[in-house]
Amino acid sequence: MSKTIIVSNRLPLQVKIENDNLEITPSVGGLATGMKSVHSEGDGIWIGWSGLTEEELDESLKKKVEQEVKKEKCATVPLTQEDLEHYYFGFSNRTLWPLFHYFMEYTEFEKDYWDSYVTVNKKFAEVVLKHAEKGDTIWVHDYQLLLLPGLIRESMPDISIGFFLHIPFPSYEIFRTFPWREEVLTGMLGADLLGFHTYDYERHFLSSIKRILRLDVNFNEIIYKDRVVKVDSFPMGIDYNKFHKAAKENMDRLPAERSDLQQRIDDHFMKDKEAKLILSIDRMDYTKGIPNRIRAFEYFLNKYPEFKQKVRLVMLAVPSRSNVPQYQLLKKETDELVGRINGQFATVSWTPIWYFYRSLPFDNLIDLYTSADVALITPVRDGMNLVAKEYIATRVKKDGVLILSEMAGAAKEMNEALLINPNNFEAMADTLKQALEMPVKEQKKRNTMLQKRLRRYSIDKWAAEFFKALKATQNLGQVIVAS
Ligand code: ADP
Ligand code: G6P
Repeated sequence: MSKTIIVSNRLPLQVKIENDNLEITPSVGGLATGMKSVHSEGDGIWIGWSGLTEEELDESLKKKVEQEVKKEKCATVPLTQEDLEHYYFGFSNRTLWPLFHYFMEYTEFEKDYWDSYVTVNKKFAEVVLKHAEKGDTIWVHDYQLLLLPGLIRESMPDISIGFFLHIPFPSYEIFRTFPWREEVLTGMLGADLLGFHTYDYERHFLSSIKRILRLDVNFNEIIYKDRVVKVDSFPMGIDYNKFHKAAKENMDRLPAERSDLQQRIDDHFMKDKEAKLILSIDRMDYTKGIPNRIRAFEYFLNKYPEFKQKVRLVMLAVPSRSNVPQYQLLKKETDELVGRINGQFATVSWTPIWYFYRSLPFDNLIDLYTSADVALITPVRDGMNLVAKEYIATRVKKDGVLILSEMAGAAKEMNEALLINPNNFEAMADTLKQALEMPVKEQKKRNTMLQKRLRRYSIDKWAAEFFKALKATQNLGQVIVAS
């Protein structure tokens, strides 16, 4: 029977070694949380990196890792320490990630990184080819594997391949600066269907195809060699019911059954009915606009001092890619800013910013979402941003206000949120005031619309639409052959 093979750099689970034992935790990030729901329902396999390098594993640990991931219908691609440094921290996260998020000043064009990127994409192809059989469907994900569709196509010309990019595709003016632009574009064209979160990313990609490869583009179809490659936008949704149900359960819990975190929040906010909780959740990443958000909050407290003692910004930043210097600098800057603002404004009974630099379990994420009067999500550039959608899904009573950056892909579908430019502190401060004073009736009106849309276009629907479009490309191929 034919199966679906999902391929991404990171598996939905992370394996670590703790005191000679394997420890398995869920992976963080939009790709993992989104695709996990799709994968858990299917009977396919997910191929990716376990989180451990070859050097960390002896034969017996290797076997154990394979057994553990197999239970979750996964298989691993072996990566060495050098692969990790050059392909993952290097080309993926010091070249492609900053370039595609318009951080030109952070982008490094290193030939060693590129060579490793090619090698590792080939390693992924090898493992995929071991598992793939005629009639299977292969779904490749994200910027770490842009060459993979082309590599698989070389060995299996007739297999169905889909590719989805979870980050923005930059405008031609940015992409043209990239030394390996032709190789990357032709690698992607190995797929039958290329999916992006928004129409803008799709448009940017097509523009690069026309101007760099000079290929014929007919609306959203590219003629490449003897095939038609289709390009389309599929805004990724969330597992709406999972978040909504978890929030309902959380709210029904008796005080004694509540988590420590929830009890601490309750204690604080029960005492003062006028107190408000503003929440942000991100990976610690410079694209997420964390310093901008803190500075805007400082500006807000100075401009509207009547909110002092009343509002608290709860900021959860999950550690990410901490070997990359820009991420280390961001962590330092964030620590300093939080320290400065808390030092400047705190009183014996009030700390303006509660800052957590760690990963929290799912139940605690739900505690935070359900307790937040306002979600303040301010990326300077973000492919989609699922946190914004998850916050709305957890609003069981339909109250709460989402402030969302225009620079997030999610803003395209969430017009009822308060949309802001994350570089405009004045406007951010005013919008925060507007959010804190918004009548509940208006909150409910906005969230009703948002929830309706999110429920309808959930992650299952997103995946189903992608598969439907991928299946339809089989007919496109035949048209070409026949003509
Ligand atoms: P990105 O993909 O850039 O990290 P998104 O906002 O699209 O940004 O996705 C982040 C995902 O990571 C969300 O689904 C969120 O629930 C999840 N997440 C955030 N923090 C944690 C955490 N501490 N533990 C597990 N998952 C988390
Ligand atoms: C974003 C990327 C994913 C990545 C995730 C976490 O969501 O689009 O591809 O997996 O961040 O980053 P990491 O580098 O830890 O895998």
